[in-house]
Amino acid sequence: MSQQFQHDVLVIGSGAAGLSLALTLPGHLRVAVLSKGDLANGSTFWAQGGVAAVLDDTDTVQSHVEDTLNAGGGLCHEDAVRFTVEHSREAIQWLIDQGVPFTRDEHAGDEESGFEFHLTREGGHSHRRIIHAADATGAAIFTTLLAQAQLRPNIELLEQRVAVDLITERRLGQDGDRCLGAYVLDRNTGEVDTFGARFTVLATGGAAKVYLYTSNPDGACGDGIAMAWRAGCRVANLEFNQFHPTCLYHPQAKSFLITEALRGEGGLLTLPNGERFMPRFDPREELAPRDIVARAIDHEMKRLGVDCVYLDISHKPAEFVKSHFPTVYERCLTFGIDITRQPIPVVPAAHYTCGGVMVDEQGLTDVPGLYAIGETSFTGLHGANRMASNSLLECFVYGRSAANDIVARLDQVEMPQALPCWDASQVTDSDEDVIIAHNWDELRRFMWDYVGIVRTNKRLQRAEHRVRLLLDEIDEFYSNYKVSRDLIELRNLAQVAELMIRSAMQRKESRGLHYTLDYPGMLSEAHDTILQPPTYAD
Ligand code: FAD
Ligand code: SIN
Repeated sequence: MSQQFQHDVLVIGSGAAGLSLALTLPGHLRVAVLSKGDLANGSTFWAQGGVAAVLDDTDTVQSHVEDTLNAGGGLCHEDAVRFTVEHSREAIQWLIDQGVPFTRDEHAGDEESGFEFHLTREGGHSHRRIIHAADATGAAIFTTLLAQAQLRPNIELLEQRVAVDLITERRLGQDGDRCLGAYVLDRNTGEVDTFGARFTVLATGGAAKVYLYTSNPDGACGDGIAMAWRAGCRVANLEFNQFHPTCLYHPQAKSFLITEALRGEGGLLTLPNGERFMPRFDPREELAPRDIVARAIDHEMKRLGVDCVYLDISHKPAEFVKSHFPTVYERCLTFGIDITRQPIPVVPAAHYTCGGVMVDEQGLTDVPGLYAIGETSFTGLHGANRMASNSLLECFVYGRSAANDIVARLDQVEMPQALPCWDASQVTDSDEDVIIAHNWDELRRFMWDYVGIVRTNKRLQRAEHRVRLLLDEIDEFYSNYKVSRDLIELRNLAQVAELMIRSAMQRKESRGLHYTLDYPGMLSEAHDTILQPPTYAD
């Protein structure tokens, strides 16, 4: 039997964004935080490098703002950048107050800044400003925030719950647009339950799983973007898919990232013959923004017909390498690579979704009562290329600002009453799950081949044709069979792929992460690619 639940705030996603929001809400509100797998299954847990923020006295807000604007290829919204950076110090202080064990600076007392934590450097940053917990920052943050949430009696943490779709007044045929909650598959019972809420928050992470090779964990399927689109929200800049330049290249190493901080601390990129190549591409060399480094690697791999390039930090003292990068050191060692003595084979892989659901400074979407925060959102911060370690920062700043906005609106919003149950009367158990598996593989492969680091009109047209066929097939399957996690994810992934392709086709220039051989130059004016769902335009 399916069940009905009611909460003041329904948070879909238990990563950095969802947990920050839940912990910022006052204790008298009933809050549900959902995760479609175990609570740690988002990208947050895997973040390595750290969080960018203006922390030491020799750094400035202006400098962080300018670096972000430069990396963003003329497309960042300066107000969003300034808002985020101006709140960076306070967001980090909040994390420190929650108990996050950031790495301390052993020389803190000797330096002028007086800041007690170690700051590292990453691509695009003109200053050391990345606070971190060795090379496992995400795990340290996630574990700390989760422990705090577990202490809060008003927060219910629910695992194995997959949100299927949002419930809106429009969907129910009522007057108005408001979001009233969500239908959620409980993977323990197989039933789709109804979660009514005064406020609903999408904190569902990115969509990098749309590509065959990715640094992201399995759940990064763009569920929030697809649900918001179906509910009537605009989405923006989905053509900007960030490829991280350095993922471990090894047949058994599924999606393991080699942090950019390794280059920040002196790691060098080389060809198989040991020759450095980044100086030929950009004066910032290994610390150029990610789009430039990933494209340079792609170019060199194609030029030489090699499977990977190498990242070498073996010239640094072994103790330094082991203490700064214990996770990378241990993981590589399990594959027989001793990074204190050998270069690491690396390739680019899909890493971050710069576009997403359009929101304002409070994380509010086009649909009243619905917020989007973290990687699923489009705030305008990242422009055409996200600068390293700005994304966790965005999760904390917007997670907290959305929480404050909810509090400010509490008096205006009642609990929704008597929502209809999920209707499963017309569907049966699937007898052909092979279709789901096949479509997953096909989608991810053609997105990699046709909508990857270097694009052309022809490749995008091919991808568009294929995604339309897949969407039709998936729609038919969805109308006839019971939902499962795989089917829900495939449906969302195909929807987001279609939006990405459509956005890429609209951009008749090369800018930041969107590079096409048909329009290699950049237009003089920068415009966002904004897509409106049919229901919104009605
Ligand atoms: P996530 O942490 O991805 O969490 C998503 C949550 O949503 C999960 O709980 C998931 O279960 C849930 N969910 C999704 N769909 C549904 C659904 N349908 N129903 C219910 N629940 C759902 N950024 C930095 O700033 N610094 C770094 O050093 C850094 N390193 C990175 C390293 C790696 C390997 C990766 C993959 C990313 C890294 N990033 C880094 C990016 C950053 O980690 C992510 O952008 C950020 O963690 C996203 O947080 P989030 O809260 O938005 O989503
Ligand atoms: C990394 O550690 O290289 C990832 C940083 C990021 O994605 O911001």
